[in-house]
Amino acid sequence: MIAVLLWLSVSNASAQGLKDALGESFLVGAALSVEQTTGHDSLVTATITQHFNCIVAENCMKPEALQPQEGQFKWRKADRFVKFGEEHGMTVIGHVLVWHAQTPDWFFKDSVGNTASKELLTQRMRTHIHTVVGRYKGRIKGWDVVNEAFEDDGSYRQSQWYQILGPEYIELAYRFAHEADPAAELYYNDFSMSVPAKREAVCRLVRQLKEKGLRVDAIGMQSHNGLTWPSNEDYEASIEAYAALGCQVMITELDMNVLPNPESFSGAEVSLSFDYSEKMDPYKNGLPADVEQRINERWIEFFDLYKRHSHQISRVTLWGVSDAQSWMNDWPITGRTAYPLLFDRHYQPKPVVDDIMKLFKK
Ligand code: G3I
Repeated sequence: MIAVLLWLSVSNASAQGLKDALGESFLVGAALSVEQTTGHDSLVTATITQHFNCIVAENCMKPEALQPQEGQFKWRKADRFVKFGEEHGMTVIGHVLVWHAQTPDWFFKDSVGNTASKELLTQRMRTHIHTVVGRYKGRIKGWDVVNEAFEDDGSYRQSQWYQILGPEYIELAYRFAHEADPAAELYYNDFSMSVPAKREAVCRLVRQLKEKGLRVDAIGMQSHNGLTWPSNEDYEASIEAYAALGCQVMITELDMNVLPNPESFSGAEVSLSFDYSEKMDPYKNGLPADVEQRINERWIEFFDLYKRHSHQISRVTLWGVSDAQSWMNDWPITGRTAYPLLFDRHYQPKPVVDDIMKLFKK
């Protein structure tokens, strides 16, 4: 079976992919796991290179991966990721410099375990950003400089960055990133970016940063979407609002949450976690035809919106390639069978991929 799939994919390697059909509108990207950049699996590599012209590291360029202990940088996986992109002629995006998650606690503690001073944390932020951005200077098109600085109600997230440095941590991050690679594009990235209160907060922040002369090239709408959220109206209003700031709009972590959840919520708050139950894992043996149809309709709604706003959208990145790798198999409930992406668990394009390509060929 795998041999047949491999032959099909490799023989189709020269076949058209998403990047060919959509590539005149915007960059077509995918988040890659560490394993996917090893080249160990020809089927995986063939699928990625056939359909995508842009990549972002799902995890290996986050603070916990690059600097797990102060001053001890781990470059092997990130170097391989960047090299993979360069070898395949892809645009490489950096994710992420300053975030409340996947950032080691040592950043926020002094040598005796007390809360780090403003001066110490500022110096550590500068060192991390200058070391990381400097290493890949000229090789990475742009960076998610700050990720998820706001709550959905528009208030500042009370991260340790915020608690120690105040909201000024944000401008520090953009200043340091620009110092380290003046040619790199700099992005603000967040989820639930169609929620009006958050939209207003992000617009206010970006205006403030620009007024201070800081570089903010794009606003990243992560787009961990659902079958019923965001509303197309709110989604479109946000694209328009972010573009009106003079920024590119990027869809940076697109996937679709189609499983039931214990309580109604949207977004991608990584700290959410609930117990497993059969009731919450209804499609572990496959999707019913009517559910698959609804999912496909939703994908077309999204890509039709992106097409209509392609003059404002410069990148659409899927948060993964295959359903098998998706974080949604384990969030917010561990061990489920999710269907959030455009390629199935055998890296075969779902039928909707052809429909999306046809949409852009009209
Ligand atoms: O590296 C450890 C490994 O040593 C250990 O054996 C394994 C099992 O415990 O865990 C590994 O760490 C995992 C890490 O991904 C790297 O694979 C963490 O448990 C796991 O929680 C983490 O999940 C990532 C998540 O961010 C964590 O915040 C997802 O893969 C990743 O897709 C997700 O991506 C974020 C974006 O960066 C920001 N926007 C939201 C998005 C979804 O949460």
